[in-house]
Amino acid sequence: MDRELALEFARVTEAAALNSARWMGKGDKIAADDAAVRAMRSMFDTIHIQGTVVIGEGEMDEAPMLYIGEKVGSGKGPKVDIAVDPLEGTNLVAKGMNGSIAVLAVAEENCLLHAPDMYMEKIAVGPGAKGAISLEASPEENVINVAKALGKSVQDITVVILDRPRHEKLIQAVRKVGARIRLITDGDVSPAVATAIPNSGVDMVMGIGGAPEGVLAAAALRCMDGDMQGRLVPGNEEEIERAKKLGIGDINKILTLDDMVRTDDVIFAATGITDGDMLQGVRFYADRATTHTVVMRGQTGTLRFIKAHHYLKKKPKYVQTLG
Ligand code: FBP
Repeated sequence: MDRELALEFARVTEAAALNSARWMGKGDKIAADDAAVRAMRSMFDTIHIQGTVVIGEGEMDEAPMLYIGEKVGSGKGPKVDIAVDPLEGTNLVAKGMNGSIAVLAVAEENCLLHAPDMYMEKIAVGPGAKGAISLEASPEENVINVAKALGKSVQDITVVILDRPRHEKLIQAVRKVGARIRLITDGDVSPAVATAIPNSGVDMVMGIGGAPEGVLAAAALRCMDGDMQGRLVPGNEEEIERAKKLGIGDINKILTLDDMVRTDDVIFAATGITDGDMLQGVRFYADRATTHTVVMRGQTGTLRFIKAHHYLKKKPKYVQTLG
């Protein structure tokens, strides 16, 4: 993919964030998601790609836009796989809480894992701890190995974990080994990406979250030479069948970073909707708004933060007013 496309994809997440941010704190996560989806969808069509959504808003009959298999882009240009989460952290926007982003990853055709909408056990780290993680090892072993790789003492390692009853044992194990934990209510893509960003304050992400979110995080970590493993956690037979249909024969297989993203020709972009550690959220002014976006390219490993000032009167198509 041409490097110019990185800026084009940043525009896509910016549009989704701008549109969705209007819904912050309004208690309506469906409207917030819908706003992000519509803006993302229309911005995609301005880009010269032949894109196929492989991770999106759901199956064709569940989602009117950005459904799995949908073709996006102008229809000219490279054939690419697209993974999107127009609003990652729907509850966070609805409640006006920190940590929501609009996010996407684009890679050359057939190179992104077609992750079914189910849970995935994940472990993610930045480049300093590449090769030090394994889902076959215990949480304690993983924390100790990551601390060694980073040259830090275990007590200085910060692990981000979704605050869920299913993580009770994991939390106990990490506390027992002496690491610091940051519990989050939602949104595990951002902290996984943050492991690869210097001074982010996040060393590891562990626990069970969404599988599609896992592939999005893997795309960023592939760009930054970080590391990640995932294992699907199907809830029932139907989910096992769904995974098979998407080409995942061995449901118990530990998925490496290379299994989830099979190329360096990948671009990752995310824009803050509400404030977060990595990205500032959208700010609205009298006639302008600002966005904060991170863009990464796998081919060069370049990480860019883009602060954009948008003149809203000139962007009526992408930025609705709620009235
Ligand atoms: P939504 O944006 O779909 O609300 O998902 C947010 C999220 O917190 C993800 O970041 C995470 O992977 C997943 O949900 C966790 O799922 P659950 O809330 O079922 O534990």
